[in-house]
Amino acid sequence: MRLLLTTSQGIEDLARAEVENLLSELGVPFRVEERPLGVEGRLLAEVGEAFYTDEKGRKRELSVSTYLNERSRLLHRVIVEIASERFEGIGEEEPEKVLRRIEEFVSELPVERFVKVSESFAVRSFRKGEHRITSIDISKTVGKAIFERLERFGSPKVNLDHPAVIFRAELIGDVFFLGIDTTGDSSLHKRPWRVYDHPAHLKASIANALIELANPEGGPFMDPFCGSGTIPIELALRSYTGEITCLEKFRKHLYGAKMNALAAGVRDRIEFLLGDATRLSEYVESVDFAVSNLPYGLKIGRKSSIPRLYMDFFGELAKVLGKRGVFITTEKRAIERAITENGFEIKHHRLIGHGGLMVHLYIIM
Ligand SMILES: C[S@@+](CC[C@H](N)C(=O)[O-])C[C@H]1O[C@@H](n2cnc3c(N)ncnc32)[C@H](O)[C@@H]1O
Repeated sequence: MRLLLTTSQGIEDLARAEVENLLSELGVPFRVEERPLGVEGRLLAEVGEAFYTDEKGRKRELSVSTYLNERSRLLHRVIVEIASERFEGIGEEEPEKVLRRIEEFVSELPVERFVKVSESFAVRSFRKGEHRITSIDISKTVGKAIFERLERFGSPKVNLDHPAVIFRAELIGDVFFLGIDTTGDSSLHKRPWRVYDHPAHLKASIANALIELANPEGGPFMDPFCGSGTIPIELALRSYTGEITCLEKFRKHLYGAKMNALAAGVRDRIEFLLGDATRLSEYVESVDFAVSNLPYGLKIGRKSSIPRLYMDFFGELAKVLGKRGVFITTEKRAIERAITENGFEIKHHRLIGHGGLMVHLYIIM
């Protein structure tokens, strides 16, 4: 079986390491490729069949996709791949020609091997890049091709609201993917514990990528701009044994973070502090790890306050940080200045896709 796995752009290596760890635990043969056909934010895993022995000693199949949906912290979707194809020149072609190419391609695929004709289905699409067609055009075209193909085997049923089976069609640049989306309509990064929706919350998958990069080894950990608590909560859910602190300036967000932690079942594992990160040393003497997505993209007018905020914060961080910091922001110039002028060294930098933007990530020591 081939699984197309989706995640955020820029964290494919971390997602791959996670998937490889999880698959090793199952003891199945596998091979994981990052960015199949050059597509960012995607992995392709070739996985052998997994089995377990039930209470009567019978060999039973274990669903690898269910396992990954349940266990992964970095993936967004687990899709059973039906086909992957590069359509050269698709960006320049007339819309009718593009859709005809997609329809012809899909109609040749043995989709009947992946669904029962009696099950209702829907096609959900994702499109990224320069095209003259929309994702709705793709859904309709792929849906028609699948329907006509399945008609050879019975009477297919479409149910757009509550389908039993979701086909996922993706057109990213000139690469087309088709598969069965085993994750469902809600991406895995939308955690069920999120009862308070902070306007600038971090995707849980990216929060876990930051945690992986910080690699905290049990010492005190803090998110000094914790908003709705995504990073501390995800860390606590990983059974972290060290102290975890969530510092936030606004009461409303801090209260929301507590509610999220309560929903996640980790309220008692996190210390919540109302306070100003530019006065960090007033609240804590030392922390080993500080991980945060910093405030950025504030409304024009207040944006000028960012360099000052970063300078003051990193000045305070220099007084308390013992081991490593991991931060993300869009404000490259302001953060790099604040990091270096406060005596820190940038150990690693990368770009990550978040909310349609590429944000800069730094590991500092
Ligand atoms: C980008 S958001 C963090 C979102 C968070 N990671 C989440 O997933 O919900 C930045 C947060 O920093 C808070 N903040 C801004 N200035 C602050 C300061 N001086 N001290 C502490 N928190 C501050 C904002 O209220 C906001 O909640």
